Amino acid sequence: MPQDSPVQDRITWYWNQHAPAYQRFQEQRLAHPDYDAAWTRVWRDALPDDAETVLDVGTGTGHAALTIAALGRRVRGIDIAPAMLDYARDNARRRGLDITFVQGDAVRPEVRGGPFDALVSRYLLWTLPDVDTALRDWRRLLRPGGRLAVVDAPWHAGGMRHSDTDPRAHAYDAEARRALALAEADDIAAWRERILAAGFTDVESTPLTELFELDGVHGVATDHHRTLQHLITAQNPGAP
Ligand SMILES: C[S@@+](CC[C@H](N)C(=O)[O-])C[C@H]1O[C@@H](n2cnc3c(N)ncnc32)[C@H](O)[C@@H]1O
Repeated sequence: MPQDSPVQDRITWYWNQHAPAYQRFQEQRLAHPDYDAAWTRVWRDALPDDAETVLDVGTGTGHAALTIAALGRRVRGIDIAPAMLDYARDNARRRGLDITFVQGDAVRPEVRGGPFDALVSRYLLWTLPDVDTALRDWRRLLRPGGRLAVVDAPWHAGGMRHSDTDPRAHAYDAEARRALALAEADDIAAWRERILAAGFTDVESTPLTELFELDGVHGVATDHHRTLQHLITAQNPGAP
């Protein structure tokens, strides 16, 4: 990947090459009964009982999509990195879950099967170059009254620091960090403000303390810090 390629291309390159390691870590977490129970509670509480169709944006290896499909919802997942999607499809197949995974950009996504009752996204907004356009487009994919449920965290409060040999240093360089609105945000309020500015209503955030405690016991991924994650829910009031 050339140094002067656009920011999103470098980020997509990073996630494609990181897919095997990401899969190993997330697969461990999915197989852990305490994490599985905690994430099942997060998504069950986040989604209204009548939300039948759910779109998982930036699905990666499918962590949220798999957990939500296991709750009996009809799920579609979209991600920009084909290598992540290969794992997601295999994960669904091995669990006997019928989930459609498609490649696409979270900013201006083109997805069949909408409008959806709910749109979920875990650990994506921090790495998007155009959060505001994405959020406005997500409203178009949701039915009026549909639910947005985002899980994210101020992972890099105080600034991103990677050693030169860390592949993240190339993808998330100074130019990228300037382009990413939330990558170095230090408070989850920044997520709430952008969700409100995109026209969502009833924006509420909940700290996921149970997961924070589990991470204290079991540790986090290599080169990551334990960080309190938040669930942010909101409602699409109608057509944008
Ligand atoms: C930290 S991973 C999170 C994956 C998954 N949501 C999870 O919870 O495990 C970030 C994901 O966002 C994807 N991604 C990054 N930029 C994207 C974009 N513009 N559109 C769609 N997916 C994107 C990456 O390919 C990667 O799979």
